[in-house]
Amino acid sequence: MEVLITLITLAALTLGLLILARKYRVSLSQNKAAFFWTLVLVALTIGSLYLIYTPPGTRMGPEQPIPFSHQLHVGVKSIQCQFCHPYVDSSIHPGLPPVEKCLYCHNYIIAKHPQILKEHRYFNTKTPTPWVKANYLAEHVVFNHQRHIKKEIECQQCHGAIETMDRVKGRYFYMEFCIQCHREKKANLGCWLACHS
Ligand code: HEC
Ligand code: HEC
Ligand code: HEC
Ligand code: HEC
Repeated sequence: MEVLITLITLAALTLGLLILARKYRVSLSQNKAAFFWTLVLVALTIGSLYLIYTPPGTRMGPEQPIPFSHQLHVGVKSIQCQFCHPYVDSSIHPGLPPVEKCLYCHNYIIAKHPQILKEHRYFNTKTPTPWVKANYLAEHVVFNHQRHIKKEIECQQCHGAIETMDRVKGRYFYMEFCIQCHREKKANLGCWLACHS
């Protein structure tokens, strides 16, 4: 969608410029400075459009309410993904761990750490930890982890080296990414039947 909007905007801009250029062909050659600044303005517009429509996932991972580190928990402490994301192979929603799960360990491990005290506050007030979502998928796309994990596709193939990340850097999943692998693995390419609702 974002790509489409950007393309349409670009097309409209180009068309407008072409019309203007035709109309003022003579005066253009006499007003090189004005022409130059117009170009600069157009470049700036395109630049800011690009920034606006760059999906959040392509920049640094979002700051989280608690600086939870996959690098520490998965990379160093070797906790299994499924311990914290238990529904990943049985439901459409892999789930983010509830506070109870953190406290299962942290009632004993570094129990007085300020960040863990914060977890206790969430627990005592029955507030779910307001984790910030890192991954994005267009709303009309049906994605189901189950089918993929049953085929033994590694989490890392889609999520990158999570075990090295202090702050999960999500991504925006474009269709091209899905299609590429489906083509390689000879999976369903009937997009409208398979992926789009
Ligand atoms: C000790 C618990 C724990 C373990 C183990 C764990 N995670 Fe997570 N995971 C979390 C928490 C908490 C979040 C939400 C905060 C964040 O994004 O860092 C999260 C977020 C994520 C996200 C981003 C979700 C989104 O879109 O916002 C992905 C992807 C993910 N984990 C994949 C994995 C994978 C793959 C593994 C194993 C290699 C793994 N996790 C192991 C706790 C865990
Ligand atoms: C299976 C046990 C286990 C679970 C579950 C677990 N942790 Fe940890 N966590 C650890 C260990 C071990 C350490 C390292 C403690 C140390 O530094 O001595 C740690 C360290 C931390 C730290 C301190 C990092 C630092 O910079 O010092 C934070 C914050 C933290 N965990 C948050 C969480 C959150 C939030 C969850 C739930 C999503 C969670 N942990 C789930 C075992 C666990
Ligand atoms: C074939 C690609 C693929 C594989 C393999 C994969 N994921 Fe995902 N994952 C995605 C996509 C796409 C999303 C975004 C879905 C959405 O936003 O609805 C996602 C989202 C998530 C989320 C965030 C869910 C939420 O509710 O915000 C977690 C957690 C997660 N994945 C964990 C895992 C774990 C753990 C594994 C391995 C056991 C794994 N994923 C394997 C593609 C994949
Ligand atoms: C790394 C490879 C890989 C990636 C990336 C991937 N897929 Fe798949 N996908 C597969 C395989 C292999 C199957 C076949 C699973 C089976 O046969 O049960 C599959 C099956 C599916 C199915 C079930 C199709 C059916 O036959 O009903 C859907 C829906 C689907 N994928 C959607 C997606 C979407 C959406 C994305 C992108 C966000 C994606 N996939 C990314 C490998 C991948």
